[in-house]
Amino acid sequence: MSADNPQPSQCPVTGLTTTAGAPVSDNQNSLTAGARGPVLLQDYQLLEKLAHQNRERIPERVVHAKGWGAYGTLTITHDITPYTRAKVFEVGKQTPMLLRFSTVAGEQGAADAERDVRGFAMKFYTEEGNWDLVGNNTPVFFIRDPYKFPDFIRTQKRHPRTNLRSPTAMWDFWSLSPESLHQVTILMSDRGIPVDPTHMNGYGSHTYSFINAANERFWVKFHFKTQQGHKHYTNAESADVIAQSRESYQEALFGKVERGAFPRWDVQVQIMPEEDADKTSYNPFDLTKVWPHDEYPVIPVGVLELNRNADNYFAEIEQAAFSPSNIVPGIGFSPDKVLQGRIFAYADAHRHRLGTHYEALPVNAPKCPVHHYHKDGAMRFFKNDTGNPDVYYEPNSFGGPVQTETYAEPPLKISGDADRYNHRDGNDDYVQPRALFNLFDADQKARLFGNIAAAMDGVPDFIIERALGHFDKIHPDYGNGIRAALKRPVKNDTVTVGPDAVPTPAQ
Ligand code: NDP
Ligand code: HEM
Repeated sequence: MSADNPQPSQCPVTGLTTTAGAPVSDNQNSLTAGARGPVLLQDYQLLEKLAHQNRERIPERVVHAKGWGAYGTLTITHDITPYTRAKVFEVGKQTPMLLRFSTVAGEQGAADAERDVRGFAMKFYTEEGNWDLVGNNTPVFFIRDPYKFPDFIRTQKRHPRTNLRSPTAMWDFWSLSPESLHQVTILMSDRGIPVDPTHMNGYGSHTYSFINAANERFWVKFHFKTQQGHKHYTNAESADVIAQSRESYQEALFGKVERGAFPRWDVQVQIMPEEDADKTSYNPFDLTKVWPHDEYPVIPVGVLELNRNADNYFAEIEQAAFSPSNIVPGIGFSPDKVLQGRIFAYADAHRHRLGTHYEALPVNAPKCPVHHYHKDGAMRFFKNDTGNPDVYYEPNSFGGPVQTETYAEPPLKISGDADRYNHRDGNDDYVQPRALFNLFDADQKARLFGNIAAAMDGVPDFIIERALGHFDKIHPDYGNGIRAALKRPVKNDTVTVGPDAVPTPAQ
């Protein structure tokens, strides 16, 4: 501590103080002229209290506003260094991390047990900087072009006139965007309402890249498989839970970590050699597709454990800023268009939501030293001086930090004319949802049909018909199962199955 800052022992005030450190003599009664008032403008303690309260909220996240988080540890148990030189993946390495789960559409006060995709956002405090993997509990997403994200999100948020959620907007958009079918099938399946965040998987979802010590590139997908097992609610069960508590996830996660029942996930990767990307039958950078396990089996990596609650929810969970742009040496991006869009969107959102130097907040600050030249701006409370006041630009002659060429990635081959390519050309939107549909047993299918029918309540007929046309293309049983759940006549010309194969939907 410098001579300018007195040592705590030099400060005699131990009780309540103003934010400027002066003692407060009365925290119960305003300063008034006479017992009945009025209040005096000079009561600066009252002014400070009211003014501070006016600023106690920051904008909520534009999406994923409702969330639950905890700190944990990533432990590496298997050697994947042939694929990546990232230090976080050295065998035996333990890296502290933060995980924030969330729902996508609901506001901060939304009920936890709603049917929605869940966010699975991780920040690993590695020795070479923070690595953020900002994924979901699903391996795919609704869109494959970032241009469509704001449109898609509007369909999930409130209607501008009614201020209500709009199933019509949702099904209108989905039925006009068949690339969403895969994610919609997962969302409407049993896994659409996990009982709490510990009973679901996490996925990096995008294709990323690994760079190894020989500077070779591999494509990679990340998987986090729950050790707690999958557990989900039906629509009816979730309605009961929400009637009892809107905070069921916060209660479950906070309680488990507090009790020492630390939740764990098996960490796995799928690896694709760089040149395979031109050979697969699907675009491996398409976010609406998985890499089938039989083509690219999962490789074990380690274990993720959550083991510490935040001391202050606002400071550490609400102010947490995760961004897919945060990568570290050995981990890189891919041509995935949605990932490319997200590389811009998150840090931009953080500058708006939290302020210029959001990365200096303790929860976001790397655990390794930072050396950069972004000095001024709101929240400049941190110290990254280079020991010389003349070093505020680069290049300089005063020993300021400089680039390190050895961290450069190998060049990425890119070909083709710059154009606006129709992202629906040459992409089959039905094969992979069909593979998933075929995994479900009769009861799972019945619940899927019932969930979709319930979600279509109040949607105009022409939109339902357009959506059913897509479900028919996935599988005739799929379209007809939904028709039966909607109490509509099944479509005989596409029916290829007997009556037993289309189960009666659950009530
Ligand atoms: P596999 O039979 O090897 O894998 C099926 C996968 O489906 C398992 O990972 C399983 O997860 C998962 N699964 C089961 N029920 C659901 C559900 N309701 N929602 C989401 N995932 C579920 O087959 P393939 O690799 O060939 O993939 C077939 C289909 O499985 C894909 O089209 C995709 O929809 C889905 N899937 C595939 C993944 C992949 O990376 N290949 C990852 C997740 C889903 P678990 O192991 O946790 O039980
Ligand atoms: C949050 C944008 C797609 C997962 C956010 C936020 C924005 C955003 C602006 C709020 C950030 C903040 O205020 O801190 C976008 C855009 C996308 C996109 C523009 C596509 C172009 C995705 C995808 C996934 C995802 C594909 C998962 C695979 C998340 C998660 C959060 C989030 C988990 C919450 C992070 C947290 O807990 O703080 N997104 N998103 N998003 N997004 Fe996306």
